[in-house]
Parts: sequence; structure tokens; C-alpha cells
Amino acid sequence: MNKAEAKQRIEKLKEEINSHRYMYHVLDKLDISDAAFDTLKNELEELELKHPDLITSDSPTQRVGGEPLDEFKKVEHVVPMLSLNDAFGEEEIKAWQERIQKLVPNAKLDYFCELKLDGLAASLIYENGVFTRGATRGDGKTGEDVTQNLKTIQSIPLRLRLPTEAELEKEGFGTGQIKKILAAVKSGKVEIRGEAVMTKKVFEALNRQYKKEGKPLLANPRNGAAGSIRQLDSKITAERQLDFYVYALISDLGQETHGQEHKIAKAIGFKTIFQNQYSKDLSAVMKFHERWVRQRENLPFECDGVVVVVNNLNLHKKLGVVGKAPRWMQAYKFSGKEATTIVEDIILQVGRTGILTPVAVLEPVNVGGVTVARATLHNEDEIRRLNLKIGDTVIVRRAGDVIPDIIKVLPKLRTGKEKKFQMPKTCPMCGGRVVRAEGEVAHRCANKNCFAVSRRNLIHFVSKGAMDIEGLGGKIIDQLMREGLVRDPADIYDLAEGDLVPLERFAEKATQNLIEAIDKSREVPLTKFINALGILHVGEETAVDLANHFGGIHKLAQASINELSSIANIGEVVAKSIYEWFTSAKNQKLLARLLKAVKIINPKIKKKNQTLKGLTIVLTGELESLSREQAKQLIRERGGDVSSSVSAKTDLVVAGAEPGSKYDKARDLGVKIIGEEEFLNLIK
Ligand code: IVH
Repeated sequence: MNKAEAKQRIEKLKEEINSHRYMYHVLDKLDISDAAFDTLKNELEELELKHPDLITSDSPTQRVGGEPLDEFKKVEHVVPMLSLNDAFGEEEIKAWQERIQKLVPNAKLDYFCELKLDGLAASLIYENGVFTRGATRGDGKTGEDVTQNLKTIQSIPLRLRLPTEAELEKEGFGTGQIKKILAAVKSGKVEIRGEAVMTKKVFEALNRQYKKEGKPLLANPRNGAAGSIRQLDSKITAERQLDFYVYALISDLGQETHGQEHKIAKAIGFKTIFQNQYSKDLSAVMKFHERWVRQRENLPFECDGVVVVVNNLNLHKKLGVVGKAPRWMQAYKFSGKEATTIVEDIILQVGRTGILTPVAVLEPVNVGGVTVARATLHNEDEIRRLNLKIGDTVIVRRAGDVIPDIIKVLPKLRTGKEKKFQMPKTCPMCGGRVVRAEGEVAHRCANKNCFAVSRRNLIHFVSKGAMDIEGLGGKIIDQLMREGLVRDPADIYDLAEGDLVPLERFAEKATQNLIEAIDKSREVPLTKFINALGILHVGEETAVDLANHFGGIHKLAQASINELSSIANIGEVVAKSIYEWFTSAKNQKLLARLLKAVKIINPKIKKKNQTLKGLTIVLTGELESLSREQAKQLIRERGGDVSSSVSAKTDLVVAGAEPGSKYDKARDLGVKIIGEEEFLNLIK
């Protein structure tokens, strides 16, 4: 290959490689395998090695620099890099609008809302389409030249993309604007600004790797990004896999609105934030803010608020700057994702494999827009590391898509009443032995069936005849148990929205539905509540008998074996089981917690004329005018017993549409069967 051919090949390879980079790093689309991509890059590298004079600064091989720098050069910002004024609530944003409206009384104010990324601001300058200088903000007037480090960011183009006229037309640009944009890309000077960020995913992966290698960990994604850009060795920056999102176009490319700055930035090859949104008035701004308060955890990057920008650029000139901050924009911040609260208790969750995970029960606190009542403590060593005691004031943080963490104890706030936490010797769920295997951080319950028993209890607790919590099925119970959020029935009533949102399958709607269903179940008839406790040998019918006899949960809880066994239908064995349940310290604690969470209603069944007294009735099939639960209640109010299975003791079977095997059995045993109409007559 002669030099001219090599030059041509190099140009083609650069274009090809650049187009794949753009697809992958800017558009997030994968259109070539890593291996094929590497082959193209290798070929380019070899050709450039043979012809070093053909290397240009926009070649993809030039993303990582050679020798580390001694220091960064200082650079002047021709247009100062300003800072933002913060607003913390609706009132402050409204007050801002009022202030600026006074300065431009006749203007109709509309806005462009952006996500405020938590990274490091950078200015990029392109000359004749080629990236020539990148700088940090510094003090706003003078920054540091970090060109080489910014070049390692794959979503920053080394050469601007030349959009087609048709494309720009489609985006709503006029002929004059299109001319200006194309001229600037080809042969002008373009300054663009944005935020260099580290995604949460990269942050977590890097820290996993650093942990393995024994290197110091990155504190958070923001520090990860800032620290990487200010590295003198660009090889280290490259390893950090940063990303770059544009938020402003500084040069005049004919843009008339801030929204258009984003459109141009996108057209000339940058990554912009697709979630950003035009907002026609403040109420749309509020909606945008509310939405991201709730959804920010699902974003791939850290986001600490919304930037609200007056959309019309003519107004920017009129509004001007006060101090270092422009009047035309505000940072509408989210309340911090950290908050302080008190650890009320430390409880243990038992996982499927028997691992005991300590979980902090918190005084509910709003962390970044959601209420949090639990934080995972991982294991005993973590409690020691934090030096955490029950009663301590702590800092909790919600980060990424995980259950909130306690990151710090504030020991100066101790009163002396705090209690040390001790791992129990027996399992809080089943009473089994707790062991800590040699070399393991985790404690385990030695009882192999432990988890299964609790799981069954929980499923019974939420079922229709018990607390009747709609939508809380086995799968979700498993998940909540695994995450350490639910260990016993009372834990269900401690769940807060903020505990659920980070979990898989818990979109916002699902979370709200579940919390609503739980709240609905807080009003519960005594019979259902007794049934829900899952006392051995106590099902729906016995629960009815107990409710009728005692009329309230406290009397039942105090009853002696003698009193219990004097009740009709309750024998010695059942009486003993009930007595034992209510005298166990563990159950007493559970009951006390439950009674704080729920309100027991219609404690005694209103006795109607006792037309069904002494009759044992079985329901089968679907009734048209009544639900199963309503039918049961009608029978009980009239003194009848409802049984779930047909036997020789059954007096009557009520059969609705499509009755099941109970119907056949009743026929075989000669038990009287009646239809819905007859049943309704009977109870009139
Ligand atoms: S506009 C006044 N837009 O927040 C000029 N800044 O607190 C400010 N930031 O230094 C730039 N996302 O590092 C703007 N969508 C966004 C932003 C954003 C993050 C950062 C930027 C700035 C800081 C100000």
C-alpha cells in the first residue's frame, strides 16, 4: 500500500470506527461486535504506526494521551461559566417567576426543564469541526485544560457530526438557522458545555473491581467523575469510562430557544438527555419535578434536581446575571437523598437459606422524596463497623437501586440509653439454633424448614379469609422476605413506599397499589383478625366462635384453658393451642405490634334472628347476588356455622353456579342441597 492509498484507507477507517462509536456511545445502540470493532481499530493503529505523519488529533487512536502531565494548563473562559441559584420548593420557584416577570412584564414565560446531573461541568471547543480544547469550570473565569482527559470520553465526538439539511428542517429549523449551523460545524468555532458523569453502573462495577484489587474505593459517582477528569494520567481517566451530556450551546448557531440548543447539540453528535422537556408554564415545571423526585432512582446517573431554564433566549439578555448566577435559570433541587433518623430497633430477617440479616427499624423519614422505615445492616460485622446501637441517631442514604443503607452513626447525639445489639442464640422465626460458620460473616438458622414456615404464615396472614391484602401473593412475599423487609406479619404494616420502589417489579404504580391495599386492610373484623394470627387448629369457624364468645381480642388473649374449653365447638387440644399462642412472649410482641397497626371493627357479630342456629353449612360454586364472604357472614349472623368441607355432619349445602366436588359428595352422602334462591329465602 503506497502512502496515498494508506491515507485513503486511514480516512475510511476513521469514519467507520467513528460511526460505530457514535451508534454505541451516543445513541446507545449496538451495531457491531467488540471483536469486529477491535479489528478495525487495530488496522488503523498499524497504518498510523507506519505513517505517523498521517495521525490527526481527531483519530480514534488519540483518545488516550501519552505521558502523564506534570500539571494542567490554565485557560480563560471567554464566556464565563456561571453557577446556578438553588430553589428548594414550589414557593421558591414561584417567587423566582414573579421576580423575573417583573423585569419582563410583557413576556410570556415558558421553560425548558432539564435533569441536573451530579458530575463535573466542562466546556468543549471545536474549531473547523475538530475538538481542540476542553476545560473545567474552575472559578468560572479561569479553568484547567483537561482536553486529553475529556478525549477519553467516548460520547464526546473528536469531530462534530455534520447533520443533513433535511434532518434540521425536520427539527423545525429555518433556512437561515440551517446555514449557520452547517457553516459553524464545517469551518467555525463552536463552544458547547455539559456535564461529565460516571453512571451508577460503572461506579458499582469499578468499586467491585477496586475492592478485589485492594485499591481505594470511589466515594460516589460524582467524586468518581470529578476525580477522573482531574487525573494527570489520561490512561486512568480512560479506565473510568465516563459519559458526557450537553446542557448548553454557547456559540451563536442561530438558536432562538434553549430547547433549540439541545436540538442542535444532538444533531451535531452529542448526547443530550432525552428526558429533558419543554414546559409551557410553571405547572408543567412542577409536574416534571414531581415525576423525577419519584423516578430519579431509575435513572442511569445521579441526578440531584431539575434545572429550569427560561426558553426564549431573547429574554436571557434582558434578564441578565446577578453575581455569578443568571436570572434566567434556577436549580430546583431535590431534597437530599440522605437524612438523619433514629434506629428504633434492630430485627432479624431470615432468608431462604437460613441466613439471618439484621435490619434496622427506623423512625420513618423522608429521604429524597420517599418515606423510608427500614435499612439493611447486612451482617453483624457491619453493625460493629458502624458501631451502631439501638436508639442511635444515624444518617441513612438511598443510593442506586438498593434498599437504604445506614452510612454513619452520630455518636455525639447519644443519651446513654442506647442499647447494644446482640445476635440471638436462637432464630427469631422458628426458635432453631443460630450458628456462625467458621470464616463466614453470616449467621444462619440451623433449622432447614425455618423460612418455609414463616412464609406459610405470611401467606395465610394476607389471604382472603384473614387480612385480605389484595395483590400480596407468594412471589412478592418471597421478595420482601429476601430483601429483609418482611419477617413477620407485623412487618407488613411497617412497609413504606421508599422500601418498595427500589425493588425489582415495583414500579411506582405497583408500589402505590400495594401500599393502598395494606392500608385498606388496617380495618379488620375481629373474626378475620383472629384467623389471620395463624394459631394452630384455629381456622375461620373457630375464629367466629372465639369472636362471638369474647367480643374483643384482649379478653381472648387473657383467657384460661378452662374458659376456652368451655366454649361450644372448642375442645381441649384447641384450647391449649390458643392458650399457648397467647402466652408466648414472641407472639405477645407480635400482637402488640399488630394492634398498633390495625383497627379491629364490629368486634361482635350482630345477632339476627337465629334461623340457622346449630346448622353446619357448606358453600360451593359461585353465587350470583353475593360474594362468598358476604354469604358466610349472613350465615354466621343467623347462628349457622360455615364449613369448608362436606361430611356426614354437614346439614346443608348451598350450591351456586358451577359447583365443585363438594356438590357430588353432598349428593353421595344424601346431604340436603339448596340453590341460591332458596338460600336467600331462608335468610330473609
Ligand atoms: S446549566 C449557570 N444545566 O450544575 C450555568 N448545569 O449548580 C450552569 N449541572 O456548574 C449550567 N446539570 O455543573 C446546567 N442541566 C444542567 C446541569 C447543570 C448539571 C451542573 C453544572 C453546573 C452546576 C451548577
